Amino acid sequence: MSKRVAIFISGGGSNMVALAKAMQAPDFGAVPALVLANNADAGGLGKAADMGIATEVVDHRPFKGDRKAFEAAILSTLAPHKIDIICLAGFMRVLTPLFINNWRGKMLNIHPSLLPKYKGLHTHQRAIDAGDTMGGCSVHEVTAELDGGPVLAQAEVPIFRLETAETLAAKVLIQEHILYPNVLKSFVNR
Ligand code: GRF
Repeated sequence: MSKRVAIFISGGGSNMVALAKAMQAPDFGAVPALVLANNADAGGLGKAADMGIATEVVDHRPFKGDRKAFEAAILSTLAPHKIDIICLAGFMRVLTPLFINNWRGKMLNIHPSLLPKYKGLHTHQRAIDAGDTMGGCSVHEVTAELDGGPVLAQAEVPIFRLETAETLAAKVLIQEHILYPNVLKSFVNR
């Protein structure tokens, strides 16, 4: 039985597209059942719709910082889609431990650094500023500690002299699109 995956996005959704394309393979073991955004302007919503994937928007703004109410709305949005696994893919909202613990072992995230280095934002600039010679990305299980769950796999790219956050982000993003689908496939077939 294929697992039903919800992909949570906030922006362009290039990782979402990579995941959804990979799941088109009949032996993948999972299907993209839903793309959920916290922002109706997320560019990925149109891409998901073009791929024939159900989309939903749960805008966080009306909840005015009431994370529990926001998450209750997410849960009721998810319910009819019978979701087995959540993939966070550029989802820019912090989820509460209550929500995360309910999905423990069933929620993945991609983070654009070689964790445990550079949790949080501005990862590429921080790697450059530190003089690192390698950057990269990590897919990890989501736990209540921000970007702190068990790392399942990483991909590395070299950081060259004169590298900028933009050039590094572009190189890492190419690796993200390979890494995340590979990890998800292993995860659903483990
Ligand atoms: C990616 O760099 C991802 O690692 C980070 O946010 C970015 C999302 O890009 N968490 P996209 O929306 O998948 O294009």
